[in-house]
Amino acid sequence: MSISTPAQGWFKAPSGGERAWIGLALLWCVVLTLAMPYWHYKGKQNSTGESYRVEPAAFQARVDRFVKTNKVGEEKGVAIVEPSPGGDAYLLAQMWRFSPILKLRKGQSYRLHMSSLDLQHGFSVQPVNLNFQILPGYDHVITITPTMSGDFNVICNEFCGIGHHTMTGKIIVED
Ligand code: CUA
Repeated sequence: MSISTPAQGWFKAPSGGERAWIGLALLWCVVLTLAMPYWHYKGKQNSTGESYRVEPAAFQARVDRFVKTNKVGEEKGVAIVEPSPGGDAYLLAQMWRFSPILKLRKGQSYRLHMSSLDLQHGFSVQPVNLNFQILPGYDHVITITPTMSGDFNVICNEFCGIGHHTMTGKIIVED
């Protein structure tokens, strides 16, 4: 068997059911494309993706300084850090942990900086629907304002190796 030029006239314009399905798929593409800006402005869903280049070692140094200045406790060897309301908070992802544990105040806004020391990780806050990617080399900044108090688990939702399923962190929100 060989690869040869198809016979002339092999192409036939779609008709009937096939034509309807192609039209439906195309229409859905248009709807979802328009939904992206809609979700950003109306649904407060997609973030603007504010991010800056940063060397992993430089980000680690910022996190260390942040922890040293604002540490209020420790849990299972992980520092609990309380950033000042309205200020910057840092979260470092690495195989296979998040650090530090953040202690935030309900109703206050924080600029949360996230980056990775090694490879791509996910930032998923449970049980609320918050999902972001954490990449090495990028300081991804999101502004967060907790609206509920309690303990929130942070889990990694990007497969990052043998310890992926154990990669968890925590955010504590107080009234
Ligand atoms: Cu980190 Cu999966």
